Amino acid sequence: MKHVVLAHEVDWHTWRSETRLCLHEQIAPDAIQWRVRETEDDFDKLGESSERISSKNTTSEEKISLPRINLPRALMQDLMILLQSYDPDRFSLAYRLVYRSLYEGLTRQDINDSDRVLLKEHVQDVLQETYSFRKIFSEFVASRERQKLPYENKNYIIEANASFCKARCAYLWEVQTPYRRMLWNGTKLFFGPGERQSPHVTAQQWQADGEGIWREGFYPHQVLLPSRERVKEAETLPELAAAAMDCRACELCGPAFRTVFGVGQAFSPIMFVGEQPGDQEDRAGVPFVGPAGQLLDQALNEAGIIRAENYVTNAVKHFRFILKNGRRLHQKPEERHITACSPWLEAERRLVKPKVIVMLGATAAHSLFKRFVIISRERSRTLLIENDVKGVVTVHPSYLLRLPDERAKQQEYERFVSDLALARSLVEL
Ligand code: URA
Ligand code: SF4
Repeated sequence: MKHVVLAHEVDWHTWRSETRLCLHEQIAPDAIQWRVRETEDDFDKLGESSERISSKNTTSEEKISLPRINLPRALMQDLMILLQSYDPDRFSLAYRLVYRSLYEGLTRQDINDSDRVLLKEHVQDVLQETYSFRKIFSEFVASRERQKLPYENKNYIIEANASFCKARCAYLWEVQTPYRRMLWNGTKLFFGPGERQSPHVTAQQWQADGEGIWREGFYPHQVLLPSRERVKEAETLPELAAAAMDCRACELCGPAFRTVFGVGQAFSPIMFVGEQPGDQEDRAGVPFVGPAGQLLDQALNEAGIIRAENYVTNAVKHFRFILKNGRRLHQKPEERHITACSPWLEAERRLVKPKVIVMLGATAAHSLFKRFVIISRERSRTLLIENDVKGVVTVHPSYLLRLPDERAKQQEYERFVSDLALARSLVEL
């Protein structure tokens, strides 16, 4: 009997390299025992033979000479999800599925095969929990009442959601589950023992991502591509924001850090729509926090509008930029980006149900009216967007920042404030 000890519950790296090794030696599935190590020195307990199997150094050396296993992509993806299942036999099942695919010709067409049935059930269960966890995390971020989120996990899903959680909230947060704690300090991710093992965590117990048992940084990472139905059927703004984190509908998702979703509550009276997040917004994950945002805040104050009581978002949710001398320079989004991103804005409108929409600049107006809009022609008057939703078009605060002439700047700023005041008066009608 071979014993394989995995470093943690979702140790994809060791599982995969051990699987390669065992397949190479043609070891039958029922001749291997898989388990997760329990303590720091657990690796040594089983003696030499297991150490050879479980030590990452040995396997990474062997990996070089071992032939790669060619498995269908869909099976690999399912196996990564399976590893997050609560089932203690998941590693065995995963190995059996690979072994049987290679040596017995098992395929996804064998829908009644008991291993395939089990795989399907576990995958569905993990994905369902992933959706619901993301919704809970997103609500936790939107409420901003606490920094720690206690979460009673069923499956081992926390690590696979690390990228999601980092994208959804750039500021400090901690997720506490019975089996694991996960902490983001604003710069780096850490994992610690769960509440079941340790009621409190000491500094030594935290392990940074990429170090300690996490040194390969290789645990499953769950991408949940949002479907049209999910966007249309989302019932709350946090749910919608969660779905948007994995949007790949245009190429802007590549270079930026994150999707910057709108901030505010449902039934906010005014919805402010900007162009796209800038450098600082991309880092913070919040719209209008950079220089343009500060000018907007000042103008809102003067117009008697409380930002926190309204909804602030952008027509395009990813930062578009070019890199020049190490700096990320803003680039205007193109029509295809505005179009690709418009389902998100439409869904925000459906859930926020604002009375007035303020379009800050041409990109916002383009997205709402679905046509090119000349700001000087449309600004400063009441437009009808639909039934009882009014619209006000005005300039973008960045435009004010760019004006070289101080007097013109002051004049334009005053006009900007009066456009905002017009929006406020429309709410009060
Ligand atoms: N400009 C925008 O249009 N949106 C932001 O969020 C920041 C700057
Ligand atoms: Fe999706 Fe919009 Fe980002 Fe494009 S810019 S990837 S459409 S969220």
